[in-house]
Amino acid sequence: MTDHFTLVEHPLVQHKLTLMRQTGTSTSDFRKLLREISHLLAYEVTRHLPMTTRRIETPLQAMDAPVIEGKKLALVSILRAGNGLLDGILELIPSARVGFVGLYRDEATLKPVQYYNKLPAQLGERLTIVVDPMLATGNSSAAAIDLVKAAGAKDIRFLCLLAAPEGLARMREAHPDVPVVSAALDERLNEKGYIVPGLGDAGDRMFGTK
Ligand code: URA
Repeated sequence: MTDHFTLVEHPLVQHKLTLMRQTGTSTSDFRKLLREISHLLAYEVTRHLPMTTRRIETPLQAMDAPVIEGKKLALVSILRAGNGLLDGILELIPSARVGFVGLYRDEATLKPVQYYNKLPAQLGERLTIVVDPMLATGNSSAAAIDLVKAAGAKDIRFLCLLAAPEGLARMREAHPDVPVVSAALDERLNEKGYIVPGLGDAGDRMFGTK
């Protein structure tokens, strides 16, 4: 994957995202839609994985059949909203190794503060996909990728649902080597750091905390 930004314009993704944005969508529907979209986004973010072949026997004959090359990939969820994307992706890639980075946003400075960091071993040999539904200021995402790089990861992708232009610019500046995949690029951030038009607080909407 070489382009820094990929917009996933598939009609199913766009339709489901519209349902998620609407204020009337219930917590359970929001979660269900997020799980469905995460399958489709996982399909896109893994599109160019290196392949090899394995000798297998079908009931009719032997063949060299395609399989994904290399070590199991790593998924890193930025808590807590990242877990909504993580769960869906794990249904598609159940053998992935999983890490968690806990960062909360200081509401005054909008800067990320770390409270948890547990990452899989041998990150340097794995494709590492960092997930967070909302790429807003880009501060938490860039900080999470700093941690993942410090743990040795070299082949990293960032997967989100919504990106703001400000967050995308921040990621491009901090981590030009990390491609970003998103279902939408929205207009802007508001003065509180929320994506506009956005979908509100992704964590609150998926966990029903507001
Ligand atoms: N985090 C969210 O959950 N929503 C936003 O709009 C921005 C950051």
